[in-house]
Amino acid sequence: MIELRSDFLARPTSEMVHAMARAAEIPGGFGMREDPTVSRLEALAAEILGKQDALFVPTCMMANQIALHLRCRPGEIFLTEADAHVVTSESAAASALSGAMPQLLPAAGGALDIEALAAALGPVDAQRARPTVVMQENTHVRSGGRVIALDHMRQVYYLARAHGVPVHLDGARIFNAATALGCPASDLAAQADTVSFNLNKGLCAPVGAILAGPHEAIAEAERVRQMFGGGWRPAGILAAAGIVALQTMISRLSEDHAQARCLVEGLAAQDGVVVDPAATETNIVLARPLSMNPMTLAAALAKRGVHVLPFGQYIRLVTHREINADAVETTLEAFRAVLAGENHDLSARR
Ligand SMILES: Cc1ncc(COP(=O)(O)O)c(C=O)c1O
Repeated sequence: MIELRSDFLARPTSEMVHAMARAAEIPGGFGMREDPTVSRLEALAAEILGKQDALFVPTCMMANQIALHLRCRPGEIFLTEADAHVVTSESAAASALSGAMPQLLPAAGGALDIEALAAALGPVDAQRARPTVVMQENTHVRSGGRVIALDHMRQVYYLARAHGVPVHLDGARIFNAATALGCPASDLAAQADTVSFNLNKGLCAPVGAILAGPHEAIAEAERVRQMFGGGWRPAGILAAAGIVALQTMISRLSEDHAQARCLVEGLAAQDGVVVDPAATETNIVLARPLSMNPMTLAAALAKRGVHVLPFGQYIRLVTHREINADAVETTLEAFRAVLAGENHDLSARR
């Protein structure tokens, strides 16, 4: 079976599993931030991002929602764009949990339009709600893992700071962005006050995410995490895998990007499906089938053991540690066969 629906389906490495077994021997401590393995993970994450402190949380969505709650009171707005994960895929949590409303700015591949941002940050009056945080997402999942340039992130941060408005970076895949840009993730994190990222996507930990930022913000985030039901303890067993993820998995993300490139180039050479190789910058490929709807195509590929995600008018393929050159070749062969109409159920024959 070839699993391309998401990188969060990549399984932990055996080094992670061994680290988890060793962490199981270590007493977790009673207090919310007493578990020594969690503390090691949080310190390492903060160091890598160049932030003062970090908090281990169950999901990146929770990290994003905590970050928003730190900044927004009911009736306030946060500046983002229509395709941001916080808008498309977080169950309107910002309104439910923080009473906050998104103001959607024009954007290209997740990069906010600078003029529109400047206007939105401009003076408020009794009619206009006050923006209290700007959200950026890098890489940008809806556009197929597009990367926002460091310079653009700098402009956004500069502008927001000039208006006294903090920036949160939804960096679920920040290390993919940094890999594509050829810079340390701390360069991206420096363009935001708070940063969230997943340990369990390309980094392959079984579960977990990080929210990083200044001491005061993270101290308050600990309270909000508890309020949102995320005060997990003892979490050292999971944190142990996160430490290995940060130590061993960042440097190999370029391999995932290379496999995504092979996939997109292979698909570009096929009839019946449209891809944009220039838009494939990290580990996500979007392919638009021409004569089949994405659900039908995904179902036909699944019968050949290739699992892809229908994603609006596209099929989404996400590479990760378990997608090697053979998996890419098998995937391309499955596309070729299905698009050529060899749509019979192979699994039924086995
Ligand atoms: C950009 C982005 N932000 C946040 C999330 C949420 O991550 P989690 O599933 O850990 O809540 C995702 C998940 O796909 C994502 O792609």
